Amino acid sequence: MPGDLTANWHVLPGAAQVEQVVAQRILVLAEQAIDDHGCFRIVLAGGRTPAAVYRRLAAADADWAHWRVYYGDERCLPADDPERNSVMAAGQWLGRVPVPPANIHAIPAERGPEAAAAAYRAPVRAALPFDLVLLGVGEDGHTASLFPGQDHPADELVHAVHDAPKPPPDRVSLGLSALNNAEAVLVLVTGSGKRDAIDRWRRGEDLPVARIRGRHGVDVYLDVAAAGLEA
Ligand code: 6PG
Repeated sequence: MPGDLTANWHVLPGAAQVEQVVAQRILVLAEQAIDDHGCFRIVLAGGRTPAAVYRRLAAADADWAHWRVYYGDERCLPADDPERNSVMAAGQWLGRVPVPPANIHAIPAERGPEAAAAAYRAPVRAALPFDLVLLGVGEDGHTASLFPGQDHPADELVHAVHDAPKPPPDRVSLGLSALNNAEAVLVLVTGSGKRDAIDRWRRGEDLPVARIRGRHGVDVYLDVAAAGLEA
């Protein structure tokens, strides 16, 4: 697909194929990272799209003791709120595999944007470079909780978010400096609702997701519905 040269576009027939391919790539990247340096530092995507990928990971056999889990963003809600990205990931996956709890680094977003962002900077700085950053894309081209029209300094590790157009308004997000300090970046996008965002990204519009480059580019896994190739 033409457009952003740092993105490799992988169009698959449907959401099930996207989920299967992404889950498999995550497991391969984990094995490679653990072989290479003894651990796998992964940043999780929030929202609904990755839930099916996390369910596939829950059924997989992996060297979980060497996984170190971080979050790309979190909603400023109580720690046990079902709308939290950490609660979704725990329910679909992390609560079902033996990743040591000390290796799961939730964002303390219940403290509010500024306090949580300040508290998360040290663990993020200590984790860099990430081995893998997983991201979704919103209908407006946001990714993590970096939204269009809001200021995202390129050197920011962790960003305190207010007035997010996608509820809740208060969030915490990894900043571009952290999200781009990754050996691999996988963006997963499904459904026709994302078609406009993909089209704008592909045409080179300066969307938050278009500012994600990783250390070696970005792999975008999308279905034909999101790619606008549906008959
Ligand atoms: C969030 C996510 C957000 C999400 C996109 C896509 O907290 O909502 O981090 O960035 O990835 O909005 O969400 P869906 O996968 O639900 O479409």
